[in-house]
Amino acid sequence: MDAIQLVKQDHRAVEQLFKQFEKAEEAEKAAEMKRVVQKVVKELSVHAAIEEQILYPALRRAEESIEDDVLEALEEHHLVKLTLLELDKMSPEDERYCAKMSVLMESVRHHVEKEEEELLPQLREAFQPKDLKELGALMEKAKKMAPTRPHPASPDTPPGNFVAGALASILDRGRDVLRDAADRGRKAAQGRARAMRGQARKAIAKGRQAMSEVIESPPPP
Ligand SMILES: [Fe+2]
Ligand SMILES: [Fe+2]
Repeated sequence: MDAIQLVKQDHRAVEQLFKQFEKAEEAEKAAEMKRVVQKVVKELSVHAAIEEQILYPALRRAEESIEDDVLEALEEHHLVKLTLLELDKMSPEDERYCAKMSVLMESVRHHVEKEEEELLPQLREAFQPKDLKELGALMEKAKKMAPTRPHPASPDTPPGNFVAGALASILDRGRDVLRDAADRGRKAAQGRARAMRGQARKAIAKGRQAMSEVIESPPPP
């Protein structure tokens, strides 16, 4: 997959998540909204990181006149990360949750449109197909190392973002493991509570049966 295909594929994946959020919001499914937002946070954090590490520097090197567009794109990433950070800490019950998500979706859709219509065509012009493939392979590798949470205060241009990104990634992946473990723990506890309720119900039924046997049995002569 070349760099352009990879970026567009990421964009489509995010758009799918936005649609899922809009559906969940319409159906007032708070848990589903939260689940989708967590995915959006991860997907957009990784995507922004690989663009900042590889795509944007490649564009700046290829075409000097594109400098201002790339700087604007970096500022848009910065605002998206700040919003993601807030959303990640909020709950769907918060009265600003859906409004914040709606503004985020609006700005990401605008950003994606600009990237696909203005930046990516210039990348296609500046690089040979073989180079675009190599760039894509590099981005695919970088995705595995990218931070999964937004870090608006970290450097977003090379060389700083390589080091900070790798470090943040290790921390984020550790936090992901902890969160998954906590979820598994909660599910196991729910399972145990269900089993105990079942046992209690059986004991009560047995007790009732014993009581009725005592009441119905004739008194001793
Ligand atoms: Fe971008
Ligand atoms: Fe993008």
